[in-house]
Amino acid sequence: MARILITSALPYINGIKHLGNLVGSQLPADLHARYMRARGHEVMFLCATDEHGTPAELAAAKAGQPVADYCAEMHEVQAQLARGFRLSFDHYGRSSSPQNHWLTQHLAGRLADAGLIEEVTERQVYSIADGRFLPDRYIEGTCPNCGYERARGDQCENCTKQLDPTDLINPRSAISGSTDLEVRETKHLYLRQSAMRGKLNDWIDSKTDWPILTTSIAKKWLNDGEGLQDRGITRDLDWGIPVKKGDADWPGMEGKVFYVWFDAPIEYIACAAEWAAANGRSEADWRRWWRTDEGADDVRYVQFMGKDNVPFHTLSFPSTIMGSGEPWKLVDYIKSFNYLNYDGGQFSTSQGRGVFMDQALSILPSDYWRWWLLSHAPESGDSEFTWENFQASVNKDLADVLGNFVSRVTKFCRSKFGETVPEGGAWGDREAALVAGLSDRIAAYARQMEAIEIRKAAAELRAIWVMGNEYLQEAAPWTVVKSDPAAAAAVTRLALNLAALYAVLSEPFIPDAAETLREAFGLDRLAWPASAEAALSRLAPGQPFRVPDVLFAKISDDDRAEWQIRFAGTR
Ligand code: MF3
Ligand code: ZN
Repeated sequence: MARILITSALPYINGIKHLGNLVGSQLPADLHARYMRARGHEVMFLCATDEHGTPAELAAAKAGQPVADYCAEMHEVQAQLARGFRLSFDHYGRSSSPQNHWLTQHLAGRLADAGLIEEVTERQVYSIADGRFLPDRYIEGTCPNCGYERARGDQCENCTKQLDPTDLINPRSAISGSTDLEVRETKHLYLRQSAMRGKLNDWIDSKTDWPILTTSIAKKWLNDGEGLQDRGITRDLDWGIPVKKGDADWPGMEGKVFYVWFDAPIEYIACAAEWAAANGRSEADWRRWWRTDEGADDVRYVQFMGKDNVPFHTLSFPSTIMGSGEPWKLVDYIKSFNYLNYDGGQFSTSQGRGVFMDQALSILPSDYWRWWLLSHAPESGDSEFTWENFQASVNKDLADVLGNFVSRVTKFCRSKFGETVPEGGAWGDREAALVAGLSDRIAAYARQMEAIEIRKAAAELRAIWVMGNEYLQEAAPWTVVKSDPAAAAAVTRLALNLAALYAVLSEPFIPDAAETLREAFGLDRLAWPASAEAALSRLAPGQPFRVPDVLFAKISDDDRAEWQIRFAGTR
């Protein structure tokens, strides 16, 4: 038994996430957590809302709420949706927690002591009308690159060029619209990532088993020249973690907070401390997951994220950890994802284009989404959601293959032998062949799940479902029963066992259906099979079962057409 620490990239607090966000981090992380638990490993699965930064402040202002209230409310909304999608976090924390305040300030102090933080005086835009500096999105103006008039201080939405607020032409405050701006000098802290370049390079070179998507992005940033520049880790904002050196004030940094990308990954650690506090556990209980000097040296730590997050997790956060000189656990494996597109374009939060987590659950149960999203995870390249493809997948894989198998065998048994597992005769060659085939497939499925090759794992699982249908079709107990009831009973017993086995194997992908099957067969838990042979004898003759409700309903053409229009955009 191993110990596995799993984190998903922390969703920003502002707004409800779309399905592309979900499949790029939280959902595959949940798949891995569920699989590892099913294999008997000890798992700590953590996620949290990422609550600081200008997007949070601006969203709260737009909602007319104090930012702390806005974040508390949105955290609950996101936590509820996470439960709706059956994301099995051990704790769903908040980057604004006291634990994260403490740890972020502590690590900043350690980095300063190690000489890795530099105080830089820079020129920054100050709004006289607003009485404050205007970082990032607080300032708008004309893009010097393309002439777009509503470019933000950090980036032009039109041409995607990264900008500095002082680059903008005709700048104005995004808060008041005031153009009464001036450039003032102010001091900020920079993390000297460049001093860590060699160490980071060696570390990434040692990760020969990482996905190419992860290492190629890391290498590009390390070697581009652009990449490993020292990075500003403070901002002039009210909402955030006040800049302190451990417990002590930081002269010259009054009124400033840490930059959101400095404190957010530290929440991965602080979240474990939140978990302990919320569950009456001790300090040692969470530190054994994170401190290599307190037991975490034999933890395997796996992170899940979209590709845009990779530089922060391969370079910035490791710089913080390594630079602290303290024995915090570094990540062992980073699984990153490309983007999911929506019906010929992109998901768009501002235009309401695509399906968002709340909308998805309002039209169909989570298993339907989980199956489609995971079996189409954007691993080797971007992938695309279309309603046709979604409908076809659900109707075929879930309804025709898995659902139909379960329904046929349980109903057949009820009508011929009653609602208990029948005895019947011995199994023959067909059954021996099935066992051999299943053994290979289950092993292949487990290999893909271990390797976090999600699409390939889904394909193996689907193939295992198909084997059941083929077996039943060939064995045709509904025909055999007329001449040889004992032989038909033996086939039925095997098929019922197969359905129970499907509950176990499918649980990481479709936990609700697995639960329905578990209850229907009266299993106390879903133990991973020791072998295909053993699994097919798990339900003993005489054991009662119930015919479960329809596992998956088909999606009609009318529904598909209606949803296509409803989610086309501009909400
Ligand atoms: N909120 C970021 C995003 O959605 C991800 C933060 S991950 C963490 O892109 F490392 F900072 F926590
Ligand atoms: Zn531009």
